[in-house]
This record gives sequence, C-alpha cells and structure tokens, in this order.
Amino acid sequence: MGRRWFKPVLIHLAAALLAWFWIAPAVAPLAWAGLQGIAATLIAWLVRERGWRLALYAGFCPALLGLLQLGVPSWVYLVAALLLIGLARNAATESVPFYRSSQAAVDAVAERLPPGGSLLEAGCADARFALALATLRPDLSIVACENALLAWGWARLRWWRAGRPKNVCIVYASLWSLNWHDYDAVYTFLSPAPMARVWQQFQRQGRPGSLLLSNTFIVPGVAPTVSVPLGGPLQQALLIWNHDYERH
Ligand SMILES: C[S@@+](CC[C@H](N)C(=O)[O-])C[C@H]1O[C@@H](n2cnc3c(N)ncnc32)[C@H](O)[C@@H]1O
Repeated sequence: MGRRWFKPVLIHLAAALLAWFWIAPAVAPLAWAGLQGIAATLIAWLVRERGWRLALYAGFCPALLGLLQLGVPSWVYLVAALLLIGLARNAATESVPFYRSSQAAVDAVAERLPPGGSLLEAGCADARFALALATLRPDLSIVACENALLAWGWARLRWWRAGRPKNVCIVYASLWSLNWHDYDAVYTFLSPAPMARVWQQFQRQGRPGSLLLSNTFIVPGVAPTVSVPLGGPLQQALLIWNHDYERH
C-alpha cells in the first residue's frame, strides 16, 4: 500500500492538537471541531494541498463529530468502510477513484481500434465501458481487469446480465501484474498519479505498434500521437500513443 494516507492523517492530528490548545474538546466539542477544520485547512494549504481537497480537510472533523452526535450505531461505520474499500480501495492505494468513462469515450475508442484486435482495459470498475465497447465492436477481444473486490463483483454481475459475451473477460487482477504484451491496445482511465508508471509499463511490455489509450490523463513529458476531443468538462480527450512513439 502506498503512503498517501500518511499526509492527511498527520495534518488532522496536528490540527486537532492545535485546536486543543485553545478549546478543550470535552467541554465544547463543536467549537473544537470547527477550529480543527480551520487549522487542518490552513496546514493543508501550507503543504500545497489545493482544490476540493481543502474542503475535505475543513469538513472531516465536524462531519465526524456530527455523526457521533447523531448516535449512528457502530456497525454502520464498519459496513460503510467495507463498502468503500470494496468499491474504491484504489483511491487510497493508487490515487485512482471509482468513476466511469462516458459514452463519447466508448464511441471514440470503438472507432480507433484495429479490426479483430485485443484490448486490455486496465482498471474496469463495473465494466460498463468494456460491455458497451463489446456491443459496438463484437470483433474485439476484451480483457477487463479490476482489483477492488466489490467493483470486480459488480463487473462480473453486469457481464452475466449482459448474456456473458464471449469476447469480454473480466479478471480479478492488478493492472500492473498483467503482461501488456498480450494486447494490441491498452485503455486506461485512471488519474494523473499513475500515468508515468503506466507509460513505463507500456514501454517495457507493449508490443511494437500497439496502442496506449488514455481518457483525459496525459503522460508527463510525452505528447500523444493523436488527441480526440470528447467534449466533456471532466472527460476532455481520448489520448493515443503508439508503441513506437516519437517525442515531440
Ligand atoms: C476511473 S475508474 C475507470 C473505470 C473504467 N475503466 C471506465 O473507464 O469506465 C478506474 C478503475 O481502475 C481501478 N484500478 C486502479 N488501480 C488499479 C490496479 N492497480 N489494478 C486494477 N484496477 C485498478 C479502480 O479500482 C477503478 O475502478
């Protein structure tokens, strides 16, 4: 597991102690939680956290206290934590959350893969993308991997309900553990965090002439061969690299 959880934990602990300096949590818990939120936001900003993460730092402790005061039974937290880990463990370990490609992305990929080609979908979530692509391109052979247990179970269920299409195979595996040499193309929709590693794996294992397709997220320092606009505010472009790439 990566150590990305370390930073938020330290920031919250430091903010909790700082807030305690002025307000005793046992005497005025709400005021203490509010001050903790302000302190956590300030510390996070100082250590260069930005954007929506700052809102999480501000709201975490007050929200936790609010829930405790509502008297929610402890098993609810356990179930919520298990659901979260089952669906989105990679948000903590790989900085990759659970969300899905748009139909525009499916259409763009469908138009650009070679006839009868093989595709690895690296991190398939609930396999909506893989199944939609297989419907548009029944000639493709698609392997979709996922290593978050509930997401994988959901993907298998979708596959089953879609009539168990023979050209889609849903596997429980980490995308790093598979050999990318087995495929004509690899599709990713991950986050900025793993893209340098994705590129290294593609360079090391990809077949000459094979394609790397990334929904929106760039490979640092390597211009794509093709960029197809997807028209969405979050899913902006389908980026494609050839294995025998040239640096631009
Ligand atoms: C943003 S979602 C994209 C889902 C799907 N590819 C799509 O485009 O609709 C990324 C998925 O990759 C999965 N993932 C992240 N790291 C992974 C890894 N090392 N091995 C397998 N799956 C991974 C996450 O669990 C998540 O479900």
